[in-house]
Amino acid sequence: MFEPSSPQDRIPLAEEQQGSVYYQEVETAFPPKGLFYIESYGCAMNFNDSEIVASVLAETGYQPTRDLDLADLILINTCSIREKAEETVRKRLQAFKKLKRKNRGLLVGVLGCMAERLKAKFLEEEKLVDLVVGPDAYRDLPRLIERADDGEKGLNVYLSREETYADINPLRLDQNGVTSFISIMRGCDNMCSFCVVPFTRGRERSRDPFTILAEAQDLYAKGYREATLLGQNVDSYHWENPETGDKVNFAQLLEMVAGVHPGLRVRFSTSHPKDITNEVLETIAQHKNICDYIHLPVQSGSSRVLEMMNRTYDADWYKERIDAIRRIIPNCAISSDIIAGFCSETEEDHQETLNMMQYAHYTMSYMFTYSERPGTLAARKYPDDVPEEVKKRRLEEIISFQAELSSAHNLLDIGKTYEVLIEGDSKRDDQEFKGRNTHNKVVIFPKVAGLRSGDYARVLITSATSATLRGHIVRPD
Ligand code: 5AD
Ligand code: SF4
Repeated sequence: MFEPSSPQDRIPLAEEQQGSVYYQEVETAFPPKGLFYIESYGCAMNFNDSEIVASVLAETGYQPTRDLDLADLILINTCSIREKAEETVRKRLQAFKKLKRKNRGLLVGVLGCMAERLKAKFLEEEKLVDLVVGPDAYRDLPRLIERADDGEKGLNVYLSREETYADINPLRLDQNGVTSFISIMRGCDNMCSFCVVPFTRGRERSRDPFTILAEAQDLYAKGYREATLLGQNVDSYHWENPETGDKVNFAQLLEMVAGVHPGLRVRFSTSHPKDITNEVLETIAQHKNICDYIHLPVQSGSSRVLEMMNRTYDADWYKERIDAIRRIIPNCAISSDIIAGFCSETEEDHQETLNMMQYAHYTMSYMFTYSERPGTLAARKYPDDVPEEVKKRRLEEIISFQAELSSAHNLLDIGKTYEVLIEGDSKRDDQEFKGRNTHNKVVIFPKVAGLRSGDYARVLITSATSATLRGHIVRPD
């Protein structure tokens, strides 16, 4: 069954399973042109892109709806990172097909990475798709919709070297009003051999830092208390003022955003082990409102496999970065992405991945079996030769080891007090709040009169599972 989920339940740039629907009422031109429904899959960047799309559509007079049956325009923002992600989208398109039979005027559009990967093929294969729009072409949506309204197919999959949507204020929808994302760059220039992203999202480009700052200020003014800076590889953020030649790197950008207000928490994702600098680590250490949490995907613990993955670091380099984090930011939480069963992976390579998990002592990981993606370097160069059942068994071993590591971490939190940003009610009990601590761990605790979403609470941790911490509020002396 399809279950909408909140983008806040996910860590940026790793998951791809569930969709999310926008529903908030917004002011648009009058009379409204029609209602659009948008469903998003994939990484946080995609969810944030949907907010850019929503903003572009609202400008031209479309209103969002969460009711599929009322929509005049259905958009699905897609992910190509693994085959499973694409299968999920294809199933959803089948469901939309039925609606299209009932409502002849209904337009269906495919956005995002799958649109980019499959291009015009989509229009040929999925006959009931009217629009195919790649990640850099969302400004063109109003024109493409008009074309589609006139019975023509709307296709734009042009990848830009400049587009950052810097001037578009994303329409914040389907959010908790407390935490939000800010895209700071687009695309990726790393050619990790397993990854389709450089092909679907194009060349890396960084957004003007002053527009990022303005967006963070606007979020704070609207009551948001946490901003996650998003990019495929945030550590390679770099911007140069075309007039003065002044440069801004990621550490400086972090500092600028942290300066918006001490009450605005700053997070970021994703870091690349080859690019994360001590300057970034020192900036985190110096600012209380930059969270002590780094998502630093290792992918594999074997230097041989890392080389084949074209990650451009080896196991020793990665360990040195972990050591640097521990030295500069004591008690920093570190999480990872791990791929089981990449081409030619042996039992020894797999064991090295488990050893690396032990070394890095991840608080959390996103773990996957290798899924060959057409057109990638690995698909062209290496046979996908680890049998599916071996991939699955290795993944299970990785998952269960991560559960042990997460439990061990969380047990160590018992007796500690954390500042928790309240994000809303706990899912199970509306008498309890749900929030997160600096380590990005979910903390559940009983409500106390006078506190609400967006407030910070000091919570003493009294119990823990591998997924959640529980506790109660302690009052400052
Ligand atoms: N197969 C499996 N996992 C992949 N990832 C990226 N491409 C693939 C693939 N072809 C994972 C990586 C990356 C995360 C976003 O998704 O771990 O960090
Ligand atoms: Fe893909 Fe590697 Fe870029 Fe991440 S850094 S998006 S894994 S190519």
